Amino acid sequence: MLRKIQTSQLELGMFIHSMEGSWFDHPFWRSRFLLDDQAQIEQILSSDVTRVTIDESRGKKLSPSPKSEALLEPGEAKVYSPKLAKALELSASDRPRSYLRDVTEPVFNRLSPREHAAEVRKATATIKRSRKVVMALFEDARLGKPVKSRKLVPLIEQISRSVNIDPTIILNIARIKTKAEYTYLHSVSVCALMINLARKMGFPEWQMQDIGMAGLLHDIGKMTIPENILSKPGKLDESEWEVIRSHPQRGHDILSASKSLSDIVLEVCLQHHEKMDGTGYPAGISGDELSIFTRMASICDVYDAITSRRPYNDPLSTSEALAEMMSWSGHFDQLIFYDFVESLGILPVGTLVRLDHDELAIVIGESPSNYSAPIVRSFHSLDKDTPIAPKNIDLGSERSRQLIAVEDPIDRGFSDWADFSAALLSNASA
Ligand SMILES: [Fe+2]
Ligand SMILES: [Fe+2]
Repeated sequence: MLRKIQTSQLELGMFIHSMEGSWFDHPFWRSRFLLDDQAQIEQILSSDVTRVTIDESRGKKLSPSPKSEALLEPGEAKVYSPKLAKALELSASDRPRSYLRDVTEPVFNRLSPREHAAEVRKATATIKRSRKVVMALFEDARLGKPVKSRKLVPLIEQISRSVNIDPTIILNIARIKTKAEYTYLHSVSVCALMINLARKMGFPEWQMQDIGMAGLLHDIGKMTIPENILSKPGKLDESEWEVIRSHPQRGHDILSASKSLSDIVLEVCLQHHEKMDGTGYPAGISGDELSIFTRMASICDVYDAITSRRPYNDPLSTSEALAEMMSWSGHFDQLIFYDFVESLGILPVGTLVRLDHDELAIVIGESPSNYSAPIVRSFHSLDKDTPIAPKNIDLGSERSRQLIAVEDPIDRGFSDWADFSAALLSNASA
């Protein structure tokens, strides 16, 4: 496979297929050769050549790296958002401590009731179709047959369309899962979450198919794990855990046999349980070694798992889940998580907001009538600069009240927001 890369990504063992630029810029008289000497790399780096094409079938492949531009066509780097560019460049310690500063537009109630109802019907039909297609493919994987991933393409297109209209609709439907449905609905959810996040981060539309495919197939390795371990109701012992922890590698083995899948799908399958601090599995790799798609997938995967409603299982609400995940230091890429929160248009519990009538309030939960709208507890009048009697307001049903903005606690003078918000939350029952 030919792949265009930056010269800064060159490594010994790669096979140079061609270089960009006119022939007299090239430090070598031949343009196709194996890089087997560090001096060759130094010579290319000191020349005017900035991009080269490598032949991965004749030499070393490009290592998965979040800094890779190899997936972009020339000129497409500009479609990335400034925030994504930052995510690629900044080290973890340089990243913003708070996600709150840039969250300015919570998105909910965007469709009219009639449009919303029509979209619910379409999304329900998509979910129904997904069952047949995804389960058949997973069954093939279980039986050791080749995975025909092309059959998933129309489904990914339908999920992508629905997510584009309003991500909360299809996610809400896929959130309630029976035990039998969990496997395929979790895959559909992670697919929808990844496409939604990728759009928020500014990835080009042509990459959505691979990104959605990565979401749909990330857990395919679980199909080869014995049902008595996978669905064991009690605690797993260490040997059973070891079997569970083998599912990324098992999935990668299955998907590697299919020549048509992109590297995005393969790396997400293998690495979706790795963590930023290196405490994940199977390889325990960390930070910059994890591709950007892997970092996105691990957030989407965990979010769906802890918000899924299953029989006899009390899941976290969406806003509780975001607040909880935010507190897990070292697990996720902080900046991508921040994009994830924005991509859902859901405000985590504990977020400080400003309402109409110049009131400050804290998010205490999600509305039962519209889960992407919060229930807030008002506690302060900015107009009079004085505390007011706390009151719970369901912004999903009380249409007369409006959320105006997300506020930064520091800017509003709450330097002790962690303690202050904890006290407000302990007195509130949503
Ligand atoms: Fe998994
Ligand atoms: Fe998963």
